[in-house]
Amino acid sequence: MNTALVCATVVALFVCGAFSDHHIEKKMADKTLLMKQMNVLRLVHRLHQENIFKEQVDVGNTYDIEAQISSYKNPKVVKDFISYYKKGMVKRWEPFSVYYKEHLKQAICLFDLFYFANDYDTFYKTACWARDRVNPLMFWYSFTIAVLHREDTRDVIMPPPYEVYPYFFVDNEVIQKGYEYWMMNVRNTPQHTHIIPMNYTMKNMENMLWYFTEDMGLNTYHMYYRNLYPSWFNVTEYGHTFDRRGEMFLYVQHQVLARYCIERWANGMACVEPFVYNKALKTAYNPKLMYHSGQVMPPRPSGMMVTNFDTFTIDDIKNYERRVSDAIDFGYVKDERLKVHSIYEDKKGIEYLGQMMEGTYNSPHYYYYGSLFHLYRMMVGHMMDPLHKHGLAPSALEQPPTALRDPVYYQLSKRMYLLVKKYKERLPRYTHEELLLEGVTVENVEVGKLYTYMENFEVSLGSTICVAKEEDMNDVNMHVRMQRLNHKPFTYKIEVSSDKAVDAYVRVFLAPKHNHLGEEMDMNDRRHLFVEMDRFPYHVQVGKTVIERNSHDSSIVAPTPDSYRTFWKKVTDAVEGKTQYYIDRSHNYCGFPKNLLLPKGQKGGMAFTFYVIITPYVKQDEHDFEPYDYKSFSYCGVGHGRKYPDDKPLGFPFDRQIRSKDFNTPNMFFKDVYIFHKKLDEVSTTTH
Ligand SMILES: *[C@@H]1O[C@H](CO)[C@@H](O)[C@H](O)[C@H]1NC(C)=O
Ligand SMILES: *[C@@H]1O[C@H](CO)[C@@H](O)[C@H](O)[C@H]1NC(C)=O
Repeated sequence: MNTALVCATVVALFVCGAFSDHHIEKKMADKTLLMKQMNVLRLVHRLHQENIFKEQVDVGNTYDIEAQISSYKNPKVVKDFISYYKKGMVKRWEPFSVYYKEHLKQAICLFDLFYFANDYDTFYKTACWARDRVNPLMFWYSFTIAVLHREDTRDVIMPPPYEVYPYFFVDNEVIQKGYEYWMMNVRNTPQHTHIIPMNYTMKNMENMLWYFTEDMGLNTYHMYYRNLYPSWFNVTEYGHTFDRRGEMFLYVQHQVLARYCIERWANGMACVEPFVYNKALKTAYNPKLMYHSGQVMPPRPSGMMVTNFDTFTIDDIKNYERRVSDAIDFGYVKDERLKVHSIYEDKKGIEYLGQMMEGTYNSPHYYYYGSLFHLYRMMVGHMMDPLHKHGLAPSALEQPPTALRDPVYYQLSKRMYLLVKKYKERLPRYTHEELLLEGVTVENVEVGKLYTYMENFEVSLGSTICVAKEEDMNDVNMHVRMQRLNHKPFTYKIEVSSDKAVDAYVRVFLAPKHNHLGEEMDMNDRRHLFVEMDRFPYHVQVGKTVIERNSHDSSIVAPTPDSYRTFWKKVTDAVEGKTQYYIDRSHNYCGFPKNLLLPKGQKGGMAFTFYVIITPYVKQDEHDFEPYDYKSFSYCGVGHGRKYPDDKPLGFPFDRQIRSKDFNTPNMFFKDVYIFHKKLDEVSTTTH
């Protein structure tokens, strides 16, 4: 069989103009990849019901893991899994959560089985077997992580999670309305798409931010980030490398927090207060979500106090916090062999800190520093039923695809950020030389009009209605219609003059000019609110260069993925030879959602600072000049085995203290801009 990829050269479509001389090769998918893609689409189809694809069911029924033990790289994982399976695992109907110790252990065992399968065939058979035998949410979790990390599924794409399991993304009221409609109108009008509008209730100020916290793309982003870099993923044991994993964790946490604060300001609210232990938690939250079993995600009234829960006590968590805080003050972390590492002198300091605060299995000392990121969420998530006495389902905080919906998430994030801030404030300010690119001056920056608006966004609810046969898979035409924030695509031009030709790195940031009370802020306070817009390499010419860049090209965003049905059709058509299917790595689904790139503006315009800095480009990897692979790396990293294409600390130059008088250098530019929030029809008229 011809497994070589057929290459077709097309003109660069989504690359920065810098490399227009560097033609990008779009690769066509071969038969093998198409089959793999088809298999994956089938395996997660109507996830919570039995598999309707008979072929896969047959593969699963005739497969015997124990008999095939030699087909796995590591026989121990097979034995471990079989022993779990025989003892009884999480029931198919039970809500599963990676934040429950026992659930996580089983999920890792299942992942190991997938990951250590010798070849694709074994992996596929194992998946067909597991699909109908383990908890569907566990299957989805372990299977997705395996697809993301196995070499032989490299270009396989997972369908949008909100269509695979809408229960995590769509109000239970809408899902209930859908059932009702379906029962009353079964198959009367299969060609017609029934649309259920989602209604938003503004019962308190926090609800004003629904367009951010409930955005499908944002929650998808968080879910994939966690799937790409699961904390339990011990790189030494799985033989992977994740460049700057700990630093990226802290950076991304901070960027999402800053974006949330900006959205609060846009709505006239102060930024969040950090979580504190000894006061009743005011932030109430009703997720309005239910699991496929019908169990609801527990709501949380205001005025609750955190308490000890089944797996940790509040004192345990305070101890971990104290140790992290001590390490920051003391300047050293201890590893498992009691060796000390400086976190101020060693360039890897931030890496130690990040891995230690997240609590990865590669943390300097996992058992000593714990895992603040996860423990905070467990502590508040467990509040309503700390000892599991009342059978409440796992909370929104304890599911990666829903955690960002709960406003308390940002309060916990802020508490963590205060520790990072303490650390960063002890690092020296950037010197003039570190900020400078000798001989290069940014003369001017021109930014196109910035408009945000609300638009309708429809998602299929088909998978919430069970069907019996493969032939019926497309019969349920039911959509939920939601609103989401979006913006008009914009371009900006950076005029540069240079006395030499030089490879440079361009960084673009955005921050509000005033706080929510309309007060101007000092640069050193404001630097915490600079969110990244873009980052890219560029060949600067001698003399004058105009760098033109479109918001589509941003290295932080990922586009809205195809719906399940469209994707299915694309793949089926390609299998049947009707169309061609190209490998598209811009669908590196982990990116920040494109529709949220710009924060929401205000009717009369909200003032922002658009900031550009051009610094020397320092080569990290021979592939640095292949933007093809690097779509949306800024908020997701480059995955396994590659170097992050940048040598500066993430968040540079705003991650250190700033003194306004020595901060300005000729290679940077501050531009005042306004973001206007408009009605959709006003934006379309201004477009033409
Ligand atoms: C939202 O409101 C509309 C109009 O009142 C109604 O038809 C629809 O059923 C509501 N949707 C839900 C999920 O309640
Ligand atoms: C990760 O793997 C290394 C090497 O096997 C091991 O020493 C370390 O204890 C593991 N980390 C955790 C938290 O299990």
